[in-house]
Amino acid sequence: MRKKFIAGNWKMNTNIDEAKSLAKSIVDTMGNTSDVDIAICPPYISLSAVSEIVKGSNVKLGAQDVHFEAKGAYTGKVSCSMLKSVGVTYVIIGHSEQRQYFHETNETVNKKTKAVLEAGLLPIVCVGETLDERKGGKMDSVIESQTNGAFAGISAEDALKCTIAYEPVWAIGTGETATPQQANEAHIFIRKLLTKIYGTSTAEQIRIQYGGSMKPDNAKSLLQQSDVDGGLIGGASLKAADFAGIVKPV
Ligand code: PGA
Repeated sequence: MRKKFIAGNWKMNTNIDEAKSLAKSIVDTMGNTSDVDIAICPPYISLSAVSEIVKGSNVKLGAQDVHFEAKGAYTGKVSCSMLKSVGVTYVIIGHSEQRQYFHETNETVNKKTKAVLEAGLLPIVCVGETLDERKGGKMDSVIESQTNGAFAGISAEDALKCTIAYEPVWAIGTGETATPQQANEAHIFIRKLLTKIYGTSTAEQIRIQYGGSMKPDNAKSLLQQSDVDGGLIGGASLKAADFAGIVKPV
């Protein structure tokens, strides 16, 4: 059985005070939850402060990105060891906004995934098609190249430490959600790809989250699907009550 995993991606929202107060509310309401894995991913500048707040609770800390190099002249970037030093557990890699606006490619996703694993952190690898790709019948090939690209050269043992987030780009921040059936079909497809690379036993253990306008009123039907193992939540993770409303039905 795969334990459900709900992660909040705060994106470029919250200043440090807002981040601390949101983290406090989340820890107060969900800090003892043990039947679901929970993570929150604030902006870099708040990681350290939020780390203090989640310490000792079941809410884990995640980062929204990382650079694959260990250190050096990479202005504006943050390394895995820096994230580790502030208590980060998870790192989101290859988010569609990174792919769309910041030149993220399947190759950089792969490098980041390897660096994160090497540092002993846990990757959340995002894949997902745009509306044009879906309409043009390219959904499968896009997801296949993103998945194969991300996991190239990664052992089965390391793959087990990864979570995949299936995030159809057309559903992110748009209020439009994939139907539970659409989401599950994509998750089953991704699991088949993982089976091809790693075999059934490994593929069956890797968690696949759904992301894209998941909120309290649609979470249950999505999370009930056979292959939907959790959610990567953007907008609805910015209010503790909404986030709790997604965690609760799991
Ligand atoms: P959303 O974002 O829930 O606001 O659609 C999800 C994500 O981008 O991770």
